[in-house]
Amino acid sequence: MIELKNVKKNFDNLEVLKDISITINDHEIYGIIGQSGAGKSTLLRCINGLVDYQSGEIRVDGELVNLKDKNKLRQMQKNMGMIFQNFNLLNRLDVYENVALPMKFWGIPTNTPQARKKIEGLIELVGLSDKIHVKPRDLSGGQKQRVAIARALVLDPKILLCDEATSALDPAITREILDLLQKINKSMGITIIVVTHQMEVVKQICERVSFLKDGKVLSEGRPEELFVKPIKEVKQFLQEESGHLPDDGVNIQLFFTDESSDEPVITMMARKLNIDFSICWGKLEDFRSNVFGSLVINIKAEDQKKVTDYLDERKVLWEVL
Ligand SMILES: Nc1ncnc2c1ncn2[C@@H]1O[C@H](COP(=O)(O)OP(=O)(O)OP(=O)(O)O)[C@@H](O)[C@H]1O
Ligand SMILES: [Mg+2]
Repeated sequence: MIELKNVKKNFDNLEVLKDISITINDHEIYGIIGQSGAGKSTLLRCINGLVDYQSGEIRVDGELVNLKDKNKLRQMQKNMGMIFQNFNLLNRLDVYENVALPMKFWGIPTNTPQARKKIEGLIELVGLSDKIHVKPRDLSGGQKQRVAIARALVLDPKILLCDEATSALDPAITREILDLLQKINKSMGITIIVVTHQMEVVKQICERVSFLKDGKVLSEGRPEELFVKPIKEVKQFLQEESGHLPDDGVNIQLFFTDESSDEPVITMMARKLNIDFSICWGKLEDFRSNVFGSLVINIKAEDQKKVTDYLDERKVLWEVL
């Protein structure tokens, strides 16, 4: 659906995107995560042709994103809805009129029965039928984002680009908005790109994610692959520390992923090997309803070989710290 090959983007002398190559599949929910200034928004803006890139290639649905071909670009942009952190609604228009706005821009009548059905249908989809003639100032943040989502869908796009869409919302409302995005992805088959600095967002809905730092993709994969056993830069980004670990003995970090997370590996190991250990640090997290995590245990040096052999046999990933 969306393919970036060796994309580079500068603002004057500032290299903002450095050789980005990513492929996003049809119907996927794809995350782009990274610190402020990493280039996430710029990347989205290059994809939908709001800014130009200097080299490389961006293709959407097989078509090259080329800012020189204005007509084609406009058609491509019609295919990509976008939502933002600050909702960008027009305060003088009510919910219905805000959702209808892109149709107006395209010269599509908004008062025909057909248009009305479409607009009202989207307002219903986002759960705001009872607010249809309310102005944005009388809506909560979560409701405003729902309006923005309905508006982004009104031209039947195949792709929805979300730039920090939940960053201004509290955790419960964030969850609701993410559930809605997931519902849209499933029921309408829309490909969604989610740009965020919130790991929670990526964990909850993204099938795959890229970690962006200083304009480069440093890590890409399923969220559980990125976050359960993070590379150094992702660890720094997450501000994840294993705390104060004992100086004596051996500290081993275990990583629980798909295969290993359901089994009581730790207690089985203690019984089978007849050893004692202490648990020094741990985390468990929910990734789209699967729980994965990692644990640091401290064992006696003489048990190390037994333990690592056992972990290998049980296919548990481990690392001596
Ligand atoms: N129009 C512009 N002109 C000049 N520099 C820009 C422009 N837009 C962005 N930049 C610079 O490009 C870099 C990346 O910005 P970008 O907005 O893509 O980051 P981001 O990852 O989205 O950050 P945030 O999480 O804060 O939204 C920053 O250093 C920013 O100052
Ligand atoms: Mg941004």
